Amino acid sequence: MDSGLPHSPSRAQPEGPAPETRRASNASLRWRILRRALVARSASSSLSPEETSHDQPDKSDSNKISRKTSRGFDLIECHVLPISQLTKSHGDSSNGNCNIVECHNDVYVCYKLPCQGSPKLNLVYRSEDSLELHDIEASNRYNVDTTGLVCCWPSEEILAYYCVNHSDMFRSKKVLELGSGYGLAGLAIAAGTDAGEVVISDGNPQVVGYIRNNISINTETFGQTKVKSMILHWDLEQAPEMISSFDIIVASDCTFFKQFHQSLAQVVKSLLKHSETSQAIFLGPKRGDSLSKFLEVIKKNGLSCELIENYDPTVWNLHKRFVSGDDRSWPNYDKEHCYPLLVRIYTCGE
Ligand SMILES: C[S@@+](CC[C@H](N)C(=O)[O-])C[C@H]1O[C@@H](n2cnc3c(N)ncnc32)[C@H](O)[C@@H]1O
Repeated sequence: MDSGLPHSPSRAQPEGPAPETRRASNASLRWRILRRALVARSASSSLSPEETSHDQPDKSDSNKISRKTSRGFDLIECHVLPISQLTKSHGDSSNGNCNIVECHNDVYVCYKLPCQGSPKLNLVYRSEDSLELHDIEASNRYNVDTTGLVCCWPSEEILAYYCVNHSDMFRSKKVLELGSGYGLAGLAIAAGTDAGEVVISDGNPQVVGYIRNNISINTETFGQTKVKSMILHWDLEQAPEMISSFDIIVASDCTFFKQFHQSLAQVVKSLLKHSETSQAIFLGPKRGDSLSKFLEVIKKNGLSCELIENYDPTVWNLHKRFVSGDDRSWPNYDKEHCYPLLVRIYTCGE
């Protein structure tokens, strides 16, 4: 897959062919990841084409996950602070922007949200090359991949950007983010809108550990909005109190797992309120036929949906410039894998 990754090479492959082929290639990918986790890591380590994807790894430590600044849409201003550059104290970083919690393999990214008051969010990410054996064991044990640990994917940033630019729709609403990874969009909704409650979820318990941490270091920015994390695996039965309880569900880059299409559609159907105004907003690139297959499954489950290509003039113009080559800041930009389309899903008729 051309991951379109801002932060790291494609160590896990969200898009896949047939399930059997995918299982085999997942297994070999896991071995390659494991090998990478166990061998000495150097910036010059030789990576296979899939591992490097289209983005060559940066050679300096400070750029290990900082491709956010040079790849991706970069619509949310941010600074990447490698752990080596951080002061060891909590509270103040060298640029005075971040709360800092010392932790070995982590990198801190400070975002300034493009909305009223320009609230700041600090997110902790795994640094690149820090995937470990227990990550892979956990992903096998919980039947979930490791893509949530790899990076914040480009469409998550666009989702965050889109949501804070449409803050009115979140006022007093109960919101759920599915497959959130590090949770940038959920946190942005919590900090940049007047949502009543935001639940940020993922099926990978290790990812949820990061979400929990990211919530706790940003609580001061949430105002009256309640924010929670939870492990929510789409294949498992959901708690009765959650059924039909969310006004808005959001998700980024979660539709490439064809084996989970049915359960993901069911989760949306059961957790979204059955009301005219409730909706799910999914953002994600086409990634072969995975997005269109997901839409088929959505409809088979009695939900209605609309696919929107041009949902924001700034994102669209940037996309056009990447495609035409007028903007070369994202080399190898491939719209199939990099440009997130927006899908609105409704429980009632459109
Ligand atoms: C490509 S990542 C996207 C993460 C984040 N939304 C982003 O765009 O950066 C897909 C996410 O879905 C989660 N996921 C995959 N399968 C899942 C499942 N069956 N149930 C719940 N979460 C799942 C992964 O743990 C991962 O965090």
